[in-house]
Amino acid sequence: MTKANHEAVMVDEVLENLVFKQNGKYVDCTFGAGGHSSEILKKLDKKGSLISIDKDNRAVINLSSEFKDDSRFRLINDTFSNLQNLFKDEEIDGILIDLGISSTQLDDPNRGFSFQSDGPLDMRIDTTRGRTAAEWINTATKKEIEDVLWLLGQEKASRRIASKICEIRERKAIESTKELTDLIVSCTSRKSKKHPATNSFRAIRMFINNEIEEIQRVLEAASYVLCCGGRLAIISFHSMEDRIVKRFFQSKDRIESTIKFQYLNHKFLKPSQEEIRFNPRSRSAILRVAEKVC
Ligand SMILES: C[S@@+](CC[C@H](N)C(=O)[O-])C[C@H]1O[C@@H](n2cnc3c(N)ncnc32)[C@H](O)[C@@H]1O
Repeated sequence: MTKANHEAVMVDEVLENLVFKQNGKYVDCTFGAGGHSSEILKKLDKKGSLISIDKDNRAVINLSSEFKDDSRFRLINDTFSNLQNLFKDEEIDGILIDLGISSTQLDDPNRGFSFQSDGPLDMRIDTTRGRTAAEWINTATKKEIEDVLWLLGQEKASRRIASKICEIRERKAIESTKELTDLIVSCTSRKSKKHPATNSFRAIRMFINNEIEEIQRVLEAASYVLCCGGRLAIISFHSMEDRIVKRFFQSKDRIESTIKFQYLNHKFLKPSQEEIRFNPRSRSAILRVAEKVC
């Protein structure tokens, strides 16, 4: 993962609201190409520290010397829902979670995340374990596929797409992103500006990587590892993700944590028009930052 391919989103807003102590201890749960991590380190003094996490082992493999040479920094290849185990007896001042996948992952055809280019239908963030999207799509029941497309993608043509998948795979397994894209396009009428495969691809990615449960678990874990007054910043890119975050901060739909949070100045922040012009992929970002109340 190179920094050049992914533009970190809402950096100024994250720094301003999250990093309130120069000598504090921070965790970036979604290292990606290191854009946010790099800026956080710049804001910390010699006593400050940053531990970043990424589920994708390429983050560790491609770690640049900027990070390797900085003794205040450490990168862990793990899933962020493991936060509580990773920081059992530590008190963290601020945690950042920048949800989804990076442009570097999206734009790599070999990862299978994009309908814009042809490649193996993989879609796993951690490519060392779990089922690929192809393995799932060629074995799941029609009902299961329909439910994933509808519940995680709000795809109106979910039933038609699920039937088509089952019809096609009887003749030949669906193995590439192009095969899946063509099949989806044949089931939908192209009325909106959005590509017809957008919702289905996002839904399958979220399902394959168990993203909803991961978000619920990391929010819960973050509430325990933060110190009193510690801050939690989350950038979501989709209303379903943002709803989970919003309700968590309202102390609703929790797994078990009863820890309270309060927003800083704003309930949420959106990227500036200038940022959207410069980086159109930032347009759907929503940043929520809240403080742990003890
Ligand atoms: C939007 S990108 C983060 C980009 C990063 N903030 C930057 O500035 O370069 C999201 C990253 O989170 C990672 N990720 C997604 N789900 C994860 C999880 N459950 N645990 C750890 N990392 C995860 C992805 O591999 C990806 O690199």
